[in-house]
Amino acid sequence: MRRLRKVRKGYGTGSYILRSVRLVDYDRDIADLRDFVSAKGMLHVQSCQDAVANGDAYILVAERDERVIGVAVVHVAARKDMGWEQDGLTISLMEGTNAYLANIEVSPGMRGRGIGGALLRQVEEEARRRGKVRIWLHADGQNAGAHRFYERHGWRHERTVHPSWKQGRASRIYVKKL
Ligand SMILES: CC(C)(COP(=O)(O)OP(=O)(O)OC[C@H]1O[C@@H](n2cnc3c(N)ncnc32)[C@H](O)[C@@H]1OP(=O)(O)O)[C@@H](O)C(=O)NCCC(=O)NCCS
Repeated sequence: MRRLRKVRKGYGTGSYILRSVRLVDYDRDIADLRDFVSAKGMLHVQSCQDAVANGDAYILVAERDERVIGVAVVHVAARKDMGWEQDGLTISLMEGTNAYLANIEVSPGMRGRGIGGALLRQVEEEARRRGKVRIWLHADGQNAGAHRFYERHGWRHERTVHPSWKQGRASRIYVKKL
């Protein structure tokens, strides 16, 4: 799982950053995560601790210079203790051969450098390793940047829904066959 790669920073700087993507270590990573993860994302990370320990979820972090700068939270089994009231459709997207990407976030100053893409590839690889056949997510209907991001990585906009746990806001369901 542990990976180390050199990545071109882009924008013609010619410089490189060193990054790795690995499974979360709560004790070691929580302070770094608090520095950049949204309040809602942080609630999610924290409410998943038992699910991660039991293998019902996994969390990947991207690291640069020994600091965590990106995170992805994936459910591989539905649980009732995840801190939000899922609807039946959402629950089904976490069960059987389905995996569900609940959150992916990169530190604001580090976006647009391929870190989210590297996380997403590892998210998919880990789901495949766990025997999953499809991976799903909800993206806010207004989040055009995220839509482009997923589509560039081969995800398909499957339908638009208005889930109660998103206060009825339009939300795109994306899927990728693994
Ligand atoms: C979406 C996100 C994880 C992508 O991470 P990243 O490290 O910027 O991704 P990459 O560098 O691999 O790819 C960049 C692509 O991400 C998308 N993107 C979305 N928001 C972006 C931002 N603020 N800065 C740069 N790229 C962004 C764009 O599609 C961009 O592609 P483009 O060059 O065609 O515009 C990151 O932008 C983020 O944390 N956004 C806020 C949280 C969020 O919206 N998460 C998705 C929830 S569904």
